[in-house]
Amino acid sequence: GQVAYPPPGGPGLMVYDPAFQNTAVTRSSITYIDGDEGILRYRGYPIEELAEKSTYLEVAFLLIYGELPSKDQFAHFSDEVMRHTFLHTNVSDLMHAFNYDAHPMGMFITGLAAMSTFHPEANPALAGSDMYLEDSLVRNKQIFRILGKSPSLAAHAYRHRIGRPYNAPQRDLSYAENFLYMLDHLSEPNYRPNPKLARALDILFILHADHELNCSTAAMRHIGSSHVDPYSAAAGASAALYGPLHGGANEAVLRMLESIGGVEAVPDFLQQVKERKKKLMGFGHRVYKNYDPRAKIIRRIAYEVFDICGREPLIDVAIALEEAALKDEYFVKRKLYPNVDFYSGLIYKAMGFPTDMFPVLFAIPRMAGWLAHWVESCQDPAGKIWRPRQVYVGPTKRGYVPLGHRD
Ligand code: ACO
Repeated sequence: GQVAYPPPGGPGLMVYDPAFQNTAVTRSSITYIDGDEGILRYRGYPIEELAEKSTYLEVAFLLIYGELPSKDQFAHFSDEVMRHTFLHTNVSDLMHAFNYDAHPMGMFITGLAAMSTFHPEANPALAGSDMYLEDSLVRNKQIFRILGKSPSLAAHAYRHRIGRPYNAPQRDLSYAENFLYMLDHLSEPNYRPNPKLARALDILFILHADHELNCSTAAMRHIGSSHVDPYSAAAGASAALYGPLHGGANEAVLRMLESIGGVEAVPDFLQQVKERKKKLMGFGHRVYKNYDPRAKIIRRIAYEVFDICGREPLIDVAIALEEAALKDEYFVKRKLYPNVDFYSGLIYKAMGFPTDMFPVLFAIPRMAGWLAHWVESCQDPAGKIWRPRQVYVGPTKRGYVPLGHRD
């Protein structure tokens, strides 16, 4: 960043820092990342340990409330979340309005935004108070609803696409099992989801749950700083996630692997990347300048899923790309390593998800992180509306020429 000028009476020196590359905009105690060492911890717990021993809902509690739940707290929390998995009939009907080939992420974002109109009591403007800042019970109610209904919105989008009726949620299943059940995807003959695949999905949910101030989480905090309701803020955060440079990268990686086609085409593709004609999707990260610790775990899960669903042949192209890139000076010099999205799409494909569902599979678990950051910003005594400054480089003052006097 460069110092632009100190604003008179302002909060301090103003710096020009395009894309916030060097700006800390808040204090946070949720997630710690050491990008040079490839370390990721939620509330101090290493991601590797959580992925091995915990569950998504427990991690969601940890992220949002700061500590692992007691047995009673966990029973109450999971019961509340699972009780809120049902969608209002009119929200279900809303999904029918989409074309059969509508992108599920567009449907998911719309469904979330629509939820604000179904719960007007959650709108601070209508309630006439900053209730989220004052009342943890009101906050919790929205947290249960959003965590509960997100997989249902995603399942509705999926079922609409395949022209099938929606399946009602099952509260006695785990969070990931219920999601697979509502999709009626990869079910065993008794309609129960395969437990190993549900566990694999649950681990992927844990790995995607938070990543400090990434583009979509910054959007959640930014939009939330206006004290809008959390449904609208989460819809905005989901829109930020949709982009191919962020959560849309898992979809973009798969399309890239398909276009490369086979291992023999890898050197030619990498040459095009180095000539800047193409981008190696799923590589590079603003913070990690080392192997993304999530990518290591995901690579392992990929093989576990292949054992059940069959090997996805594009894994060979992915591994060839990774091996060649990690030896190539272009990528080594720029510290470009696989990120979380490089292998996740291969797992989703092996599990039979359509490619355009992939960003939705990222948005569902990231909801826990967005809500954790929303709660933290509600409780932040230094919290204010976010309003970055700019360095104006446009014309100086000039006079208006009426249209009739212009050429
Ligand atoms: N392929 C080829 N070159 C790359 C890539 C890539 N994927 N990523 C970065 N580079 C190069 C840039 O061209 C640049 O080279 P230069 O210095 O010679 O101009 C250098 O590496 C630094 O890259 P920046 O674009 O400055 O890095 P930035 O931090 O702005 O971008 C980003 C990070 C957006 C993730 C980028 O690496 C990228 O576009 N990756 C591909 C998309 C992707 O996988 N996104 C998912 C990220 S993880 C997530 O959001 C969940």
